[in-house]
Amino acid sequence: MGKIISFANQKGGVGKTTSAVNVAASLGVIGYKVLLVDLDPQGNATSGVGVSKKNLKLTVQNILVEGASIADVVIQTKFDNLSLIPANITLANAEFQLFDEENSQLELKKALLAAKDNYDYIIIDCPPSLGMLTVNALSASDGVVIPMQCEFYALEGLSQLMITVSRIKQHYNDKLTVTGILVTMHNKRLLLSMQVMAELKKHYTDKLFSTCISRNVKLSEAPGFGTPVYYHDKSSKGSAEYLEVAKELSSRI
Ligand SMILES: Nc1ncnc2c1ncn2[C@@H]1O[C@H](COP(=O)(O)OP(=O)(O)OP(=O)(O)O)[C@@H](O)[C@H]1O
Ligand SMILES: [Mg+2]
Repeated sequence: MGKIISFANQKGGVGKTTSAVNVAASLGVIGYKVLLVDLDPQGNATSGVGVSKKNLKLTVQNILVEGASIADVVIQTKFDNLSLIPANITLANAEFQLFDEENSQLELKKALLAAKDNYDYIIIDCPPSLGMLTVNALSASDGVVIPMQCEFYALEGLSQLMITVSRIKQHYNDKLTVTGILVTMHNKRLLLSMQVMAELKKHYTDKLFSTCISRNVKLSEAPGFGTPVYYHDKSSKGSAEYLEVAKELSSRI
């Protein structure tokens, strides 16, 4: 049975989508069957794997609000072993529609349960908030990966997110665990990065991925070509580091 892993952090621009897309693609390169679920109205994971956000017949919104199945919505990407549940701006309304429904935090879980056997890993890219969409993702997940930058406010955000994770665990999903904290856009030479890193090591030793993702221009270029970094520049540092993270992830969960 496949493992479901959310990439979540309520802070914006910390590398959730870059990490979800590139870990998903790297797991596919290794040979795992992977489903990437875009759960953000921005649709960055969708365009990041070369799927146009316009003119999509069905998206994750139809799954959450109308009870469509994964099989109805799934798209095969042009990358190895990588399928996609796309999202676009229509998902912005879903957040409000879900508020009115009973048990609406479990809509995604219901749909994924029926598809879990078809994949080794289901990777969910969450939006930058702790609203109904992220609650749906965490309620459906076996694990959560928390991408974060080594900045001062990141530590405050992290404790808030940890509280949310334990609430979800308590109310909706007792098997949810923190799979790991992934440091992104790392710059080893910055004093602040070193200090935050030291704090992280002190408080979250066993949770921290041993691979950090460095700041790497290839990682920011690749989405412009609609491709994960491995298929944009295999020899780049970003590509090698995300492959390492994918291996570490598969040994953790
Ligand atoms: N390691 C990296 N090196 C260089 N640029 C990066 C790296 N990781 C992410 N970026 C760039 O930083 C920006 C934010 O990254 P990303 O979109 O992955 O964050 P996010 O957490 O998904 O954002 P949002 O909260 O808006 O969904 C993007 O422009 C991305 O290309
Ligand atoms: Mg994103």
